[in-house]
Amino acid sequence: MKKVFIYSSFERFWHWTQAALIVMLMLSGFEIHGSYVLWGFEKSVQLHRHLAWGLIVLWAFAIFWHFTTGNWRQYIPTTQKLAEVAIYYTKGIFEHLPHPYKLTKLRKHNPLQRLAYLFFKLIISPATWISGLLYMYFTEWTAWGLAGYLSLFWVAGIHTAAAFLMMAFFCGHVYMAFVCSPITAHIRAMITGYEEVEEDE
Ligand code: HEM
Repeated sequence: MKKVFIYSSFERFWHWTQAALIVMLMLSGFEIHGSYVLWGFEKSVQLHRHLAWGLIVLWAFAIFWHFTTGNWRQYIPTTQKLAEVAIYYTKGIFEHLPHPYKLTKLRKHNPLQRLAYLFFKLIISPATWISGLLYMYFTEWTAWGLAGYLSLFWVAGIHTAAAFLMMAFFCGHVYMAFVCSPITAHIRAMITGYEEVEEDE
């Protein structure tokens, strides 16, 4: 095994800041939804609004980074080795077989990750921020000429549905982060930037 530098400092900063913001948005959002009492409704609303702006600014920087560095190409879907990776996670992993996909700096996501992250970037994130902003500026709908086209019931419903999708993605992502040997290898790679790969790569 040898260590290869995969994740740049911006990427690591973006990843962990996004994770922290999303956890806090989930906690405050589901309190607003009425699922539990944590900080109190008023405080959660304030917190949720500030964190949401933080996440939107972070996403703006991340989108700029993806396009200026060409990293958006890492998310182009591929069927190459897709079946092998799916079979690995459902069967091979329990038989301690080697991972069928060898990552490099130019191909750092396996085909399943590509699909999952693309779904996150193109569906879950936009659904969250578009519905969230419409929700936030509900009182402006008349001035913007949107009042006749939108319903708060649907906007809040779409925002909550997107929040559930984000929570499902988050749980799957955290689970997959620990499916490796040693168990902390991926977490360490996302902190240091270095991932261990097979010698022949
Ligand atoms: C960019 C992003 C986001 C924006 C602009 C946003 C905005 C909002 C707004 C304005 C509200 C209504 C609370 C209020 O009166 O102020 C709300 C509620 C909520 N948000 Fe977000 N939010 C964002 C991200 C998230 C994320 C990432 C999650 C969770 C994964 C989330 C989960 C929720 C939930 C569950 C509610 C309660 C919905 C209800 O029951 O009506 N939000 N959000």
